[in-house]
Amino acid sequence: MVSRVIPVDPFDLVVFGGTGDLARRKILPALFRRFCSGQMEDDSRIIGAARSEHSRDEFRQMVAEAIAEFNTSTTCEAGTVEAFLERIDYVNIDAKGEEGWEDLHNLMIPGRVRAFYFSVAPSLFGDLAERLHKHGMADADSRIVVEKPFGRDLDTAKDLNATLAQHFDESQIYRIDHYLGKETVQNLMAVRFGNMLFEPLWNSQYVDHIQITVAETVGVGGRGEYYDRSGAMRDMVQNHLMQLLCLIAMEPPAKFDPDAVRDEKLKVIRALDPVEPIDIVRGQYGAKDGKPDYPTDVENPRSTSESFVALRVNISNWRWAGTPFYLRTGKKLKARSSEIAVVFKETPHSIFGEEAGRHRNILTIRLQPNEGMDLDVTIKEPGPGGMRLVDVPLDMTFADALGPDGEDVPDAYERLIMDVIRGNQTLFMRGDEVEAAWAWTDPIIEGWETRGDRPVSYDPGSSGPDDALMLMHRDGRKWREIRS
Ligand code: BG6
Repeated sequence: MVSRVIPVDPFDLVVFGGTGDLARRKILPALFRRFCSGQMEDDSRIIGAARSEHSRDEFRQMVAEAIAEFNTSTTCEAGTVEAFLERIDYVNIDAKGEEGWEDLHNLMIPGRVRAFYFSVAPSLFGDLAERLHKHGMADADSRIVVEKPFGRDLDTAKDLNATLAQHFDESQIYRIDHYLGKETVQNLMAVRFGNMLFEPLWNSQYVDHIQITVAETVGVGGRGEYYDRSGAMRDMVQNHLMQLLCLIAMEPPAKFDPDAVRDEKLKVIRALDPVEPIDIVRGQYGAKDGKPDYPTDVENPRSTSESFVALRVNISNWRWAGTPFYLRTGKKLKARSSEIAVVFKETPHSIFGEEAGRHRNILTIRLQPNEGMDLDVTIKEPGPGGMRLVDVPLDMTFADALGPDGEDVPDAYERLIMDVIRGNQTLFMRGDEVEAAWAWTDPIIEGWETRGDRPVSYDPGSSGPDDALMLMHRDGRKWREIRS
């Protein structure tokens, strides 16, 4: 496969929170990899902006260290880091005060695309937007990129949207959900809308149910305080799992253009039924082998937040009425494995007799690790002994299917940041989408709070609480095994 990298026009990207964790782990290494691939023109610039005082050279040193620690690409030529560092500048800035803003303004080159990445606490989004406006940097060439969490409920999301809208048009606001930048997630749209094979079967007449699993082996890491205020529902379901659900369930948009795609996703969210308490299981991991339990990890002994959640979700529309979607996500589970499984119905009648069993096709889209898809098809078991049937996967592992270039699958942030520069909002959430997602999530969380529900305990390294297994058993179905 020949890699086709199309360079983007020269740009200035300002990373507020440039010395923070997300910038070091994700944003700066992603930019470096795009630079290596030849996508960044030589005169593009990246400007770190943060409260701490650093010289340009000190910041460059930090960027070099971040690349050394977090860059996973093996394809960069020697000397590329030095060339990349020459594109880096730094401004010491106070988001809530006046310090540094004129310096930043003076650095800007008129007439080129400017992107301002808000990699800071959401409480600062409004201050940053206001100061960018005040200092003449909120013009037609400017875009802002905002990270999650985008609010913590419908009201706060509405406030945030209104604050940003005071200074920026919706077409200039890029709300990141990094799951939308994952290669396989985009492939989901290619598979659905680029093939004749699946779409005619993609409805409740042929699909029995759909499972979406995002399982992590990590715990809450150093983010206990944030995580405990969110829980898995706010941290993962309202955004990442909801986006996956939308892409699986939406109608074909007329065009692959931002508003056409986002209109269709919005319709899915609005068609979601409220979820009854009986259709949700919340879990908290317990202690094991001397490792602390969830409340200890988040330093909140009375915590009622969930580190695991599983739900049965119904979409009330013509395509999906009658086909449940089962969603689950959790920390400290037995493997890191994220996948979507479209489980088709059994054949209506077996011509091979009862002993051949009943079989069904399953299309599995593996988001990570080992990105790819496989389709379970039923074939005859080879050899003598009659007509015995067996299910085998037609496996399409992208790294194998796409050859050497496919091995270096770009990280979600690489794709998304370049889309910001190109001005393509297709893979970013629109304000009304985020609000609709909160409108569906809020009553679930409020229900837990008013009823005083507590999560059930599960063993670290397991597949989650037994109650989650029951959620499917009760419907005569079962979860796919979590394995890497
Ligand atoms: C983040 C969540 O948005 O996504 C984290 O805040 C989670 O809690 C992470 O660990 C998972 O992302 P990925 O790309 O590793 O699946």
